[in-house]
Amino acid sequence: MTDMARLLLAWYRHRKRTLPWRSTRDPYAVWVAEVMLQQTRVETVIPYFEHWMRRFPTVEALAAASEQEVLSLWEGLGYYSRARNLHRAARVVMERHGGKLPADVDALRALPGIGRYTAGAIASIAFGLDEPALDGNQKRVLARLFDVRQRVDSAEGERLLWSLAREHLPPGKAAEYNQALMDLGASICTPRRPDCTACPLREVCRAHALGVQEALPVKKPKGETPHYVHAAAVVMREGRVLLARRPSQGLLGGLWEFPNARLAQVKDDAEAARALEDALETGYGLGVRVGASLGSFRHAYSHFRVTVYAFRCALLSTGERTSLEWAAVGALDGYPMGRVDRQIARWVDGG
Ligand code: ADE
Repeated sequence: MTDMARLLLAWYRHRKRTLPWRSTRDPYAVWVAEVMLQQTRVETVIPYFEHWMRRFPTVEALAAASEQEVLSLWEGLGYYSRARNLHRAARVVMERHGGKLPADVDALRALPGIGRYTAGAIASIAFGLDEPALDGNQKRVLARLFDVRQRVDSAEGERLLWSLAREHLPPGKAAEYNQALMDLGASICTPRRPDCTACPLREVCRAHALGVQEALPVKKPKGETPHYVHAAAVVMREGRVLLARRPSQGLLGGLWEFPNARLAQVKDDAEAARALEDALETGYGLGVRVGASLGSFRHAYSHFRVTVYAFRCALLSTGERTSLEWAAVGALDGYPMGRVDRQIARWVDGG
């Protein structure tokens, strides 16, 4: 075992965090947790994980659920393709693997939504296989430990980091090793101001010796995040409101929203109203007359920000679109939505 691995495991034995998915080796539970944790913080994931495991305790239960319910349980976690892929993969596991996740990295990676990281995490944590698993946090830790100057998001940086992780992996202890790197990245080796004085790996860390820990890892510079402006229509009729279902692929895929359109530069409300009327006609086959403004709603996604101006609209004519549905105002909670539309829905329900 290398010095790094020995120091890391000794620290983890005492400092290991108690987390709901760590009290089980059920591969399905580990899988669900790792997918939730891919882009979401531990504190946020905990209640979602517990709720999910109560509602869908097995692969079979998940495979039998509707996509609408799966998306509803995921609402608020973001990156909804993760939920759709979990659901699709559960059906594949039922059909091809008799309801059990395969104990093999390549077979795991063949499932929807399981990449190199998630396959390594399931293989090591649930099946005890000697496989590394590197997400962004662990890459940061390794880039500092070994003073990796290649960009972590480059092919070369990736190759180097995965081979370092494998080289230092202590045989038979991959679950502890991988999770110790996660915990170290979350608690001590943080992106900004790492707490090197508390670090168990201080004496073997090259970045610390050189004083360059805050300059690593090297990443591609971020571009400006675009800001989009949309207008959305709240069309009501006899206690119901018109919702549109987004296409199942892509951002917020399969979720519901108020019929809306992206606006180019508009100079005032009257121009926004006209643009919305035109766009709803073209996009949804809906004829509306835009009425009172309900205010603006904002949200920052990882790669862009949006501001949505919502308007009450009177319906003049409807098209034949099957993606539209009249939803009872009191039942809007049963329609999975993104953050902005949920804010508008709360407004509609209370206002
Ligand atoms: N982040 C990703 N996977 C994790 C795990 N198993 N425990 C804690 N944090 C994590």
